[in-house]
Amino acid sequence: MFFETRISVDGNVSCSHCHLPERQGSDGLPKSFGVFGKANPRNAPTIFNAAYQFKAHWRGDRETIEEQAEKSPTGPATFGNPDFPAVIVKLKSIPGYTELFGRAFPGKADPMTQKNWGEAIGAFERTLPQRTRFDAYLKGDTKALSPAEQAGLQKFIDIGCANCHSGVGLGGGSFAKFGIVSDYWKETGVADPDKGRADVTKNDADLYVFKVPSLRNVVATGPYFHDGSVADLTRAVRVMGKTQLGLDLSDKDAAAITTFLGALTQSVPINYSAPTPFPDTPRE
Ligand code: HEC
Ligand code: HEC
Repeated sequence: MFFETRISVDGNVSCSHCHLPERQGSDGLPKSFGVFGKANPRNAPTIFNAAYQFKAHWRGDRETIEEQAEKSPTGPATFGNPDFPAVIVKLKSIPGYTELFGRAFPGKADPMTQKNWGEAIGAFERTLPQRTRFDAYLKGDTKALSPAEQAGLQKFIDIGCANCHSGVGLGGGSFAKFGIVSDYWKETGVADPDKGRADVTKNDADLYVFKVPSLRNVVATGPYFHDGSVADLTRAVRVMGKTQLGLDLSDKDAAAITTFLGALTQSVPINYSAPTPFPDTPRE
């Protein structure tokens, strides 16, 4: 279903339309485009390690990846369906899915539900996290990181990046204001700053607050930030130094950190590609 375009209103959009295998589960665009080329308000993060995170989306407006998957098909700038029953009608019209849902959720009179769609996609997404050289290093293989990468890691910890980008995902476990020391839009140059979580909670304390993103795969998933406003990773590292820590990072330090971030890249999971069609259903 992750690779299924036939449930979108224009027949062209699947989850993988914006979370592409060849882009490490992201799309390489500042902001994504859904059905009929409609622009999404934010940048598409990679989903490879979304399962680790405490909430989904930049503003944390989805509790789990399952809830994310349940709601995506009715997004106006994703799949464009008016409601979920319209999605079920499409799914039921495609031979194969009724049987697959029956097998995946046995003993249910009507297993093809919005909740089970979310469960099934979430189950797939939970297979995607892979080990990286950094994980080998953490397990004690000190040679898994080059001396330059280790120096970058040390810098990353010493100056305070790891205070926010912490835990198994190096981020993905908390919210923080983008622009603790200085306004983010002055550094990134955006004209219409996104208010972040404040638009979700209607609470001024959440103004410009976003989820601290996981830095896994970050070298491969630019452009950066919720609005895709910065294309270059070293530049993004400098923006972080300035806005979050009040530091003007030297070229050497910014480069060292960027080098370390390269060790957080995983290989594309082998099951992250469109499956062959069901034997009895040629794809249009
Ligand atoms: C039109 C492009 C598009 C399509 C189609 C799309 N996504 Fe996304 N996805 C995005 C964007 C943009 C975001 C960030 C949204 C936000 O934070 O407001 C996102 C966020 C996510 C996240 C949260 C990642 C994180 O780090 O917080 C997950 C998980 C995800 N999508 C899975 C899916 C699944 C599953 C589907 C199919 C049911 C799907 N996406 C379809 C563009 C898309
Ligand atoms: C106070 C918390 C905090 C600190 C400290 C912090 N960050 Fe961040 N970081 C964030 C938040 C929040 C975002 C999301 C900003 C946005 O786009 O809305 C982010 C985004 C990023 C991104 C962009 C990721 C992407 O996928 O677009 C990178 C790279 C990054 N941080 C690296 C660093 C580095 C390197 C440091 C240290 C110099 C650092 N961060 C320090 C909170 C923090």
